[in-house]
Amino acid sequence: MKKGLFITFEGPEGAGKSTQCRRLAAWLKRRGYSVLLTREPGGTRIGRQLRKILLNKDHHEISPAVELFLYEASRAILVSEVILPALKKGRTVIVDRFQDSTWAYQGWAGKMDLKLIDRLGQEALGGLKPQITFLLDLPVRKGLARVRHPNRFEAKPLAFHEKVRQGYLTLALREKGRIWRIDADRSADEVQEKIQEVMRRVVR
Ligand code: TYD
Repeated sequence: MKKGLFITFEGPEGAGKSTQCRRLAAWLKRRGYSVLLTREPGGTRIGRQLRKILLNKDHHEISPAVELFLYEASRAILVSEVILPALKKGRTVIVDRFQDSTWAYQGWAGKMDLKLIDRLGQEALGGLKPQITFLLDLPVRKGLARVRHPNRFEAKPLAFHEKVRQGYLTLALREKGRIWRIDADRSADEVQEKIQEVMRRVVR
């Protein structure tokens, strides 16, 4: 078995993250990696319950502050129950959304203090950081047009999603070594090809 990696996928709505996560997992498995694929929010028993609470369109009373606490709670459980044990066994972990989502959605778009988000993230993650993050980027309107049944976030106004995208792009500039921006405004095959190109370059 090859040495494990910690990879995350990020991006605005409708960028095709789930498809690309699955395809990368299959590609890595063919290359001898033992891969665990999970997602946020979700991935644990309690995480799945928090996902239902967070994404329910009727939950108008959930503020960005409440979102922040619930996402970090869900993340803390996912890290201790799923991610760390898998990494310790040498497995490769791929997560569909992680701390950068909180930074873009609750911070940049939701106006929560970015330093507070970093501090809470430190607590929830205990210093754990992905080695590689793929930011699947595409114009907000194009992404939203791909969404069939909008959740509480997807139903927010266009201006909110523009801020999410700006947040991600700002973060990608700040963390160039980790975050790889991939143009997701093209076919799933082409996007996967770019992702594999990065993997070949980073993992020798
Ligand atoms: P996602 O899994 O992408 O939804 P879908 O099942 O429709 O593909 O993500 C769920 C939503 O949660 C998404 O709209 C973004 C939001 N989110 C945050 O606002 N902050 C976070 O920290 C995370 C992980 C997700």
